[in-house]
Amino acid sequence: MRLFSFFIVLLVVCSCNRSQKPIEKSEKAIPERGELSIDSQIFLGNRLFSEKTCITCHDVSEKKIGPSVKEIMTVYKEKNGDIVAFLKGEAKPIVDTAATQVAIMQANIDGFLKNISDEELKTIETYMLHVDNLNSAQANPKD
Ligand code: HEC
Repeated sequence: MRLFSFFIVLLVVCSCNRSQKPIEKSEKAIPERGELSIDSQIFLGNRLFSEKTCITCHDVSEKKIGPSVKEIMTVYKEKNGDIVAFLKGEAKPIVDTAATQVAIMQANIDGFLKNISDEELKTIETYMLHVDNLNSAQANPKD
């Protein structure tokens, strides 16, 4: 049921963004994107995490090429790190600082991450922050 309502919210958000004909009356019905509920942000972040290929290197709970999302979040919560700043290349790595590992992630930061908006990075961060709460429900994309 929750998933279903996420989906509705997503549809609404997508259709609002795509509607190019500004009909005066409906204009005030278009929600500010900043008003997305925390649940919708988590949902979108989860989707982006797959779509933007993060998931190929970061499993939720097991180490793959990169550390698991849970491991990353344990360190970030402990050290009060800033995921968005890291993904924008504005903060140093604090999870796996081995040079070869850092180089792999740095290539993403210098590459495709430049095409991801701040807003999208923020939803990815929100998703990562809440991955513990999701685990039983939807966070295992292998299923
Ligand atoms: C090609 C593999 C690969 C992809 C794709 C990838 N990562 Fe990483 N990532 C790594 C590796 C390896 C590390 C470990 C090095 C490090 O910690 O900087 C890492 C580390 C991280 C860290 C921890 C940084 C720190 O402070 O040490 C975060 C956060 C992160 N990745 C987020 C993401 C997100 C979000 C995406 C998708 C937009 C993504 N990664 C895509 C390989 C990848």
